[in-house]
Amino acid sequence: MIQPQLIVGPGALGRLLAMRLSDLAPVTLLGRRPPPESLCLTSPDGQRLQRRLTGATPESLTAPFRGTLHLTTKAYHAAAALEGISAKLAPDTPLVLWQNGYGVQRTLTRRWSGPVLCATTSEGAYVTEGGVVHAGHGETYLGHLDGAHADLAEALAALLSRAGLRCQAVGDIDLRLWHKLVVNAAINPLVARWRIRNGQLRDRPFRPLVEALLDELEAIMHAEGIAPPAEGWHGRVWRVIEGTANNRASMLQDVLAGRPTEHDAILGPLLEAARRHGLATPQLSALYAAG
Ligand SMILES: NC(=O)c1ccc[n+]([C@@H]2O[C@H](COP(=O)([O-])OP(=O)(O)OC[C@H]3O[C@@H](n4cnc5c(N)ncnc54)[C@H](OP(=O)(O)O)[C@@H]3O)[C@@H](O)[C@H]2O)c1
Repeated sequence: MIQPQLIVGPGALGRLLAMRLSDLAPVTLLGRRPPPESLCLTSPDGQRLQRRLTGATPESLTAPFRGTLHLTTKAYHAAAALEGISAKLAPDTPLVLWQNGYGVQRTLTRRWSGPVLCATTSEGAYVTEGGVVHAGHGETYLGHLDGAHADLAEALAALLSRAGLRCQAVGDIDLRLWHKLVVNAAINPLVARWRIRNGQLRDRPFRPLVEALLDELEAIMHAEGIAPPAEGWHGRVWRVIEGTANNRASMLQDVLAGRPTEHDAILGPLLEAARRHGLATPQLSALYAAG
């Protein structure tokens, strides 16, 4: 029997996970308010799937929960969301953190009594009234920040892959989170500030801004001892911009919808690393101040 899966944060990613996992495991979707009892998933090929799901709130969750907890809130809500239900969780509950950024991963890995895995995913999803659209398939990597709990990571990666979310357990999730952070930092705050699609970064006046940001990010990564991707930092970021040219980044969508953004989760850890190493970051600091 596959262990129960508790998904905390019934937004885009949480609904996607809940819907995809619900045929394989007992799933509970937990929100601050009761999540919808029935959800519709539209898959990338346009198929629609309707499921009834078990919903919960922090108050209604039955203690002690035994199973795996997937935390799918935005980074700035993650610590409070865990705190709000921690008394109802068995202390050895495995936690999977799905947030973008870096910060909360270290904090919760230190703080939580059970094993903590971090996931980085390029799956794309957004919420609709009564459901979720799985906009595009991607890759998910899963692992403990220090490479521990390899068996648990393997088992969860196999479960996610069976559920249709291609996932690989890795021993270097720390490196992968930094790599994703650099890509996000070079793209998201700029497109959100100027309200442009990713591809417009290729043109003036934005191209030199991306290059200047990349120079600062490269220096921070070098000082942190984070190895660059095989194609180099510039190569990686321009390839992502090319591949997502028509996209509106999630940070831009948050700005357009008047929601808070993950600005701090993305720029904060990089600025903190720059301060630790005494590096000047005029471009990054200006972006941070503008956000
Ligand atoms: N969407 C994607 O395609 C995607 C892809 C890769 C990575 N990610 C990352 O995944 C994370 C989640 O993204 P998302 O797009 O799914 O965000 P989202 O749609 O905003 O969903 C976040 C959900 O968390 C809920 N929440 C907040 N505080 C909570 C609490 N204390 N207890 C329970 N639920 C709580 C929010 O509900 P309220 O209505 O109560 O605020 C909301 O339903 C982000 O870090 C994002 O960067 C997303």
